[in-house]
Amino acid sequence: MEHQIAASLSAGLGRGVLITGAGGQLGHALAERFPEAIALVRGEWDVCFPPPEVEGVEAVLHAAAWTNVDGAEDDPQGAAAVNVGGTQNVAALGAPLVYFSSDYVFDGSKREPYVESDAPSPLSAYGRSKLHGEAAAGESAWVVRSSWLFGPVGHNFVRTMLRLGVERDEVAVVDDQRGSPTYTVHLAEAVPRIALLPFGLYHVAADGDCTWADFAEAIFEEAGLDCRVRRISSVEFGARAPRPAYSVLRSEKGAPALPHWREGLRACLERLL
Ligand SMILES: NC(=O)c1ccc[n+]([C@@H]2O[C@H](COP(=O)([O-])OP(=O)(O)OC[C@H]3O[C@@H](n4cnc5c(N)ncnc54)[C@H](OP(=O)(O)O)[C@@H]3O)[C@@H](O)[C@H]2O)c1
Repeated sequence: MEHQIAASLSAGLGRGVLITGAGGQLGHALAERFPEAIALVRGEWDVCFPPPEVEGVEAVLHAAAWTNVDGAEDDPQGAAAVNVGGTQNVAALGAPLVYFSSDYVFDGSKREPYVESDAPSPLSAYGRSKLHGEAAAGESAWVVRSSWLFGPVGHNFVRTMLRLGVERDEVAVVDDQRGSPTYTVHLAEAVPRIALLPFGLYHVAADGDCTWADFAEAIFEEAGLDCRVRRISSVEFGARAPRPAYSVLRSEKGAPALPHWREGLRACLERLL
């Protein structure tokens, strides 16, 4: 069964594939990678509601999600409605699906990369909703955990830093969280290879790791912006939701390896600048 679906995903253009959340940064990259897919933005399918009538769906790339990590602390039920209830509605289509999950299912107490067999222990309402969403994806699913997504469209750290780097001489950036910034285009390109694997849980994130402050410095350097990075702690930054101090993901199950985050950054900046 997996291999039949893999054919529609890896044959190239995504006929028979439905993408949710196509207006988001990953959804956009998936829609570019699979131009023949039915790519639905939130206005076309709010996944909190049952699916619209769509014929011939052979696989779903489920990129719609509540991604406001701090906002989820104030409205955990709202986050769960989208990330858990919405995923149940997507699974109810009856087609195999790729559910995109997050490094925030881990508490960050490890100091070496998290692999698929590590026990999740989310610190935040968002992390809990993503973890419960993994279960809601059902048996016929590839659950793909990735981390620190950025791309040429949508809200993300790279675009924020490019804006701040023009406006300011210095930005204060958190230096006690370590992860692997992953380029949405690289993740989207890995989907056909993921679909060749059996259903199950996979970690798919960029090679290499850094802190947010390291990442900000790399963005300014690659973009040629003269802006200093002042390294601060998560406590100083004072975000509403706790984040893992360490959330580097690697696969022990042969999931596709992605290019280094710096390569992703350069490719992203080429499109943005
Ligand atoms: N961003 C990260 O750093 C990161 C890291 C690891 C994993 N992930 C996971 O990767 C996936 C894609 O994330 P992303 O960064 O592309 O997020 P994103 O840019 O925020 O995109 C999410 C999309 O989902 C849409 N959406 C929200 N609620 C919806 C609903 N009820 N029905 C239909 N669509 C809805 C959003 O629309 P509106 O904009 O209109 O709300 C948005 O277009 C998510 O599952 C996320 O949890 C993200």
